[in-house]
Amino acid sequence: MGTYNIAVLPGDGIGPEVTEQAVHILQSIAGRFGHNFDTTQALVGVSAIEAEGDAISDATMRLCQESDAVLFGAIGGSARYEGPDAKVRPERALFRLRKELELFANLRPVRPFDALLNASTIKPEVLQGTDLLVVRELTGGLYFGKPSEIRETPEGYVAIDTLIYSEAEIERITRTAFELARGRRKKVTSVDKANVLSSSRLWRRVAERVAADFPDVAFDHLLVDACAMHLIRRPATFDVIVTENLFGDILTDEASMLAGSMGMLPSASLGTRRTAYGLFGLYEPIHGSAPDIAGQDKANPIAAILTAAMMLRLSLGLQREADAIESAVEQIINAGYRTEDLREAGKEVVGTKEMGRLIVDAVASST
Ligand code: IPM
Ligand code: MN
Repeated sequence: MGTYNIAVLPGDGIGPEVTEQAVHILQSIAGRFGHNFDTTQALVGVSAIEAEGDAISDATMRLCQESDAVLFGAIGGSARYEGPDAKVRPERALFRLRKELELFANLRPVRPFDALLNASTIKPEVLQGTDLLVVRELTGGLYFGKPSEIRETPEGYVAIDTLIYSEAEIERITRTAFELARGRRKKVTSVDKANVLSSSRLWRRVAERVAADFPDVAFDHLLVDACAMHLIRRPATFDVIVTENLFGDILTDEASMLAGSMGMLPSASLGTRRTAYGLFGLYEPIHGSAPDIAGQDKANPIAAILTAAMMLRLSLGLQREADAIESAVEQIINAGYRTEDLREAGKEVVGTKEMGRLIVDAVASST
């Protein structure tokens, strides 16, 4: 029987509700397949600021470092910590985790379920066949570049952020994208803004050099504005999209609409550290803390549940178990159950807990 150490950071807003359902699914997988998932919970975000004085404590960082994987909910969403003058921001927890754990590759797969093609605002015939993976660079670019500050000058305030990338940073993320493409449809689209930004011109140069090592993988470049358009014009033509941090953040919120709702999309953040079972990683749904619906049993737990499946596959080496979760989710969607975000005529709307329970039952009764 394998024992796996998982740090669970539910966070704020709907984070705890959706993470609770993901943990239930893990428990049911443990029972069915005879594993032991040893989960340890800790605070991050607003709850950590209030109880521990920082968005993430050193003890919680250690807990994550010592685990096989981190299951993360969502953070932020409290007006008290979001003003321009806020001293500690809940998002700091995510940035510290990403940077200190060196999780430079953020994988965001987008594969709409057939039964949800009508739930999207995009026409079903455009969506048909969409199965893409955005590989977002996660530890560089504008998110971490210094200086980043607001300055007072005689002419008034000015603000500066810094978009900086080294060759090495571009090389490792583009290489990751090509390696992933080899396990898929063997096509990489590198997205940049090389007609304007120096960082993008270096990005393009390095991406081309890396591409030469993967002659079996088709490769093209796209400017980010054009990519935003093509994502909703011809989503099915993309396989792997690789791009810098902020572009990836924006494009994946857009791409989530292809799957019907942000509440459907999981993500994995990986580096190079290996565990006994696979690559160490942090797993989070791409959605935020949604404070407007927090605590109302309305949030869609499927992104969190699919996130747990990615964790099983990539960090714990449990392929069959990951497949079992994904099939259970599809089965419940096919049976016509929907959370509020996917409300559709003729479908039954259920709450967060009920959706979790349905998926747990489907896992338990699958063969
Ligand atoms: C995401 C989120 C974060 C980001 C926020 C919460 C800082 O939007 O994971 O996509 O911008 O990276
Ligand atoms: Mn985002």
